[in-house]
Amino acid sequence: MEKSGQAAPSDLPEAYAGVRATTERLASVLSAEDQTVQSMPDVSPTKWHRAHVTWFFETFVLGEYDGDYTAFDDAYTYIFNSYYEAVGARHPRPERGLLSRPGIAEIARYRSHVDAAMDALLLEPDQPGLAELVTLGLHHEQQHQELLLMDIKHVLSRNPLHPAYLPGAPGGRGTAPPKAGWMEHAGGPVEIGHRGEGFGFDNEFPTHTVQLTPFALADRPVTCGDWLSFMEDDGYGRPEFWLSDGWAVVNAQGWESPLYWSRDPDHPDRWLQFTLSGLRPVDPDEPVCHVSYYEADAFAHWTGMRLPTESEWETIAASDGDGDNFLTDDVLTRGAPHPRPPSPPTPSSATPGSGRRARTARIRASGLRRCGRRVQRQVHGEPVRAARRLLRDAGRPRPDHLPQLLPARRPLDVRRGATGAGSLNHGVHHRRPPLPRGGAEPDAGRCAAGAAG
Ligand SMILES: [Fe+2]
Repeated sequence: MEKSGQAAPSDLPEAYAGVRATTERLASVLSAEDQTVQSMPDVSPTKWHRAHVTWFFETFVLGEYDGDYTAFDDAYTYIFNSYYEAVGARHPRPERGLLSRPGIAEIARYRSHVDAAMDALLLEPDQPGLAELVTLGLHHEQQHQELLLMDIKHVLSRNPLHPAYLPGAPGGRGTAPPKAGWMEHAGGPVEIGHRGEGFGFDNEFPTHTVQLTPFALADRPVTCGDWLSFMEDDGYGRPEFWLSDGWAVVNAQGWESPLYWSRDPDHPDRWLQFTLSGLRPVDPDEPVCHVSYYEADAFAHWTGMRLPTESEWETIAASDGDGDNFLTDDVLTRGAPHPRPPSPPTPSSATPGSGRRARTARIRASGLRRCGRRVQRQVHGEPVRAARRLLRDAGRPRPDHLPQLLPARRPLDVRRGATGAGSLNHGVHHRRPPLPRGGAEPDAGRCAAGAAG
């Protein structure tokens, strides 16, 4: 698949093989035991991810386009359906870790069974709607690749032996980030949503115009060093920075640092961070990750700034490049995914700053002031709605087993999870603003300042 994410029909076999192989590559370094554990209700076992994405192709592609297809096991719809009521009853999500069977060998056979049928189907990729539906399934699988990494990180983090997903971490200091500056935007009407020919999920359409007031977005993500300053200033102990709900969570759960940070038992004034490469000292130059919306909001208030709105973020991100935190075919040889120190800012768009006071003074001098909070959108669940639309557009009646309702959306997701890795051929519009803990975040967060809107 090209970077835009839309595969031409003739490229589908290769695109399909590539995405499916990446999933298997990510799972290949995990034992059967690793792939079975579920460490919390929001985490799914690796082998469940492998089977669920396969179930998607079996149900929504082969079930529609291959009249001769025979399901590998009819019971799999019950255990590998995720949320979709209209497909039928499903195994409770918090109990996915109880599925000792089927084991990973049988799930490998399941994947091979579906792959063989898909390979045959893709010999005729020009059937109406097929290319779009398969492309959707591939993006769905890439979403789950991110989830696989996010989830196994939590699984391994719960083991007091601190096992690494990929040992031999790059544990040293990265490149010191530049001083934070600002990327200023003059405001006015901007177009939001997916543009162009590439793939996009339903919630990225249609493009529409929003009105922005003047704002400035930090030209680099917040670093672990920035966060240490927040902690040293008792950021987790000062209610004036926190939303009331967030403050309640801080106290109820005893938060004093980002998820996966722990005090070095030999040097209690130092912090360690659990990563996919194991436990290592916090690198102050790296972007901070695994912070919740509440924490991000509190940090932003501590700096005298606010979080960017979705429209502000998308406007800047669409012109700010894709960064370097993406899964590639060499994911297992170039080191475990983790946010890296940022690249230098683009000279034409960045304005140098020099610390918190200067930043605040600059914003005040420009007449800008902090405001508002951003709202997070949820994307998981979109693949099924999109599948229904594609089948409809292809002139196929909606089959009874396709869902009538979308899964319920949570208005605010404060789960403390992230992978630091996204899939390369997801478009920029699929990237969510990074600070809230809403699934797989490609990097850490930035602060913004702007006129109240
Ligand atoms: Fe899914």
